[in-house]
Amino acid sequence: MLDEKRILLIIGGGIAAYKTLELIRLLRGAGAEVVPVLTRAGAQFVTPLSVAALAGHPLHQDLFDLTTEAEMGHIELSRAADLVVVAPCTADLMAKMAGGHADDLASTLLMATDKRVLIAPAMNVRMWEHPATQRNLAQLRTDGVLVTGPAHGDMACGEHGPGRMAEPGAIVAAIGAALGGGPLAGRHVLVTSGPTHEPIDPVRYIANRSSGAQGTALAAALRDLGARVSFVTGPASVPPPQGVTVVRIETARQMLEAVEAALPADAAVFAAAVADWRVTHEATQKMKKGAAGLPVLEFAENPDILATVSRHAQRPALVVGFAAETENVIAHATAKRARKGCDWIVANDVSPATGIMGGAENAVHLITAEGAEDWPRLPKPQVAARLAARIAAHLTGHTE
Ligand code: C5P
Repeated sequence: MLDEKRILLIIGGGIAAYKTLELIRLLRGAGAEVVPVLTRAGAQFVTPLSVAALAGHPLHQDLFDLTTEAEMGHIELSRAADLVVVAPCTADLMAKMAGGHADDLASTLLMATDKRVLIAPAMNVRMWEHPATQRNLAQLRTDGVLVTGPAHGDMACGEHGPGRMAEPGAIVAAIGAALGGGPLAGRHVLVTSGPTHEPIDPVRYIANRSSGAQGTALAAALRDLGARVSFVTGPASVPPPQGVTVVRIETARQMLEAVEAALPADAAVFAAAVADWRVTHEATQKMKKGAAGLPVLEFAENPDILATVSRHAQRPALVVGFAAETENVIAHATAKRARKGCDWIVANDVSPATGIMGGAENAVHLITAEGAEDWPRLPKPQVAARLAARIAAHLTGHTE
């Protein structure tokens, strides 16, 4: 998948550096040449010998070594790669990159390169959430830097949350996608996400508690496998992923229109929590309290986008729906699969006690023609990665 690709791999100083050794192994297994660079801090976590031995390539550590005539200069080193990857990318490296520092070999290479850069951030959750890191992240994205992870989970420091480096397999997938590869290269996948807002009057609307987190994670996971992703989203509380085509809508009817406009697609995943009903007559002016008493809202049924696309003349080869249930999850979801005419249903229990709706984790059942599979409770990005891999396997005919 990465045959004849040369990756300049910068290893920063974080405990996740040990996972980078596995990353090197996977990259070489995929056919890539790995040119390793180890920062001073990185060398506190993995040894130069293990990096060089696994890479099968001399290790670069010192800027001034490289400026001698006999060696390859840092400019050449930074450009003789197809992609520059920073894993783990620490808060400090992110800050240096965002600020344009060049005071050691790694930061100088990152300043000198004319190639795309992919970072795999890894740090303590508070450091990740710190406004300075988030500001640097936004700057790096604006500068065109690709970002994979961080994942949610337990951290070496004993805390829990976002900050773990993406797993080596996920980084390889992101590298493949950045280089135009990946199992879904050349495929178009449509994803709906978020809630819809159904207006009552110019200032009020009916909505639901969907955050859009699962749909967003799914769009990112499909992108990471190389798909071209159309992402039709209602007003979600998480930002849409980079590197996908974003279409923002508010109502169910606008979502249907945007979805139909995005067809044809190879697969479509309907993760949006679409309002079933809208108010029949949206008031043109703000409704007032008054002598007439309490207002009575009359409802009309919204179009069912999933059911419409499942029976569409341009039906994608694979149509996946979601089912958010609060009881009899598998039975209701199995019936829903048949009723809507889709291929798969991703079912979950959204009873308030589960903390799933609006939360960081999801516990799903995948309902297919073969029956129901129970997946373990996982962070939403991991559910997304698993579902995206499953979609890729289905579309390409390769089993996982
Ligand atoms: O019927 P229910 O709302 O539970 O179905 C959920 C599935 O149907 C989700 O995949 C959701 O995105 C989709 N849906 C839709 N249009 C609607 C209602 C639900 O696409 N109007």
